[in-house]
Amino acid sequence: MNSINWDSLGFDAYRTRTIIFSKFSGGEWSPFEATENFSFTFDPFSQVLHYAISCFEGLKAFRQKDGRIAIFRPDQNAARLKRTADYLGMPGPSQELFIKMCEACVRNNLKYLPPYGHRASLYLRPILMGVHPQMQLVPYPEAIFAVMCAPVGSYYGEHLRSFAAVIPGNYDRAAPKGSGSYKIGGNYAATFKPYQLAHKQGYTELLYLNSCTREFVDEFGSSNFFGIKGNKYITPLSDSILPSITNKTLQEVAADLGMEVEKRPVPVDELAGFDEAAACGTAVVITPMSHIDIKPVLEEPGIERSYRYRPDGEVGPVCTQLYKQITGIQFGELEDRHYWCYYI
Ligand SMILES: Cc1ncc(COP(=O)(O)O)c(C=O)c1O
Repeated sequence: MNSINWDSLGFDAYRTRTIIFSKFSGGEWSPFEATENFSFTFDPFSQVLHYAISCFEGLKAFRQKDGRIAIFRPDQNAARLKRTADYLGMPGPSQELFIKMCEACVRNNLKYLPPYGHRASLYLRPILMGVHPQMQLVPYPEAIFAVMCAPVGSYYGEHLRSFAAVIPGNYDRAAPKGSGSYKIGGNYAATFKPYQLAHKQGYTELLYLNSCTREFVDEFGSSNFFGIKGNKYITPLSDSILPSITNKTLQEVAADLGMEVEKRPVPVDELAGFDEAAACGTAVVITPMSHIDIKPVLEEPGIERSYRYRPDGEVGPVCTQLYKQITGIQFGELEDRHYWCYYI
């Protein structure tokens, strides 16, 4: 292995040492195994390939200040994966199996766990795939559950810097009463093209509205949304957004800091009244937005409205404080009073 430059890590697929996996067939999960073979073999008729019967999770392991290793809130990811698996009609791993496999993945790839002091971590990517060869549109209890990992630094290339987002008038992410609140692969497929268009025009993120009426803010393509107004932390309540574990954590962090937390529908016009606006998630941590533009047609020139929060690149005081608080807990620099860290 070439030595890793822990300070220049981005957020990319990485060939570590092992993947941990288990197979579900005949009504049960096989004992999990570690493999150095980075390719899976399954039938070309497998449900995952044709019907996107696939869901995943994302969580991080941290080398803390005192040398201990902590996985951040794995019980929450286990519960969310189970919920998503149920939605897809797939067998999901129990919380115990999920956590044991995440732990095994960290232990088997310790060389790739960034040392303390680089603001980097080991991202764990559990994935559940329906592998039964089948044309009928019905679930079948046959699946592979695997946990892989990658050392990661900053999702957007720089920690705590603000970026620009765009609300695309001609693209939606999730249908009302659809799959938006589940972490299924198919939800992300719909974002690839608009991301490409947005990036070409200098926007880093896509902010989606509720697709039914387009009156309310839903979430970013990669993360949840929150806005800061005075002493308030405001985040959308919507049944078509992913229930973010980072957002849930930040709501508690904000309350601990004496802020008022509001989880409710956020009308688009309210974007004008925020002091700060940001994306939050495991990968993006807290990524503030310098401004958010509305473009009626993403691929054409023309901005309908623009909401400016900060000069490009700059970050507001509340986002800075929340960022320091959550990463401080993750790296063991601040007290973990809610017992969010799972030590291995
Ligand atoms: C669409 C979407 N929303 C929100 C999040 C944030 O969720 P979490 O904080 O659990 O990582 C993610 C991913 O992490 C996501 O992909």
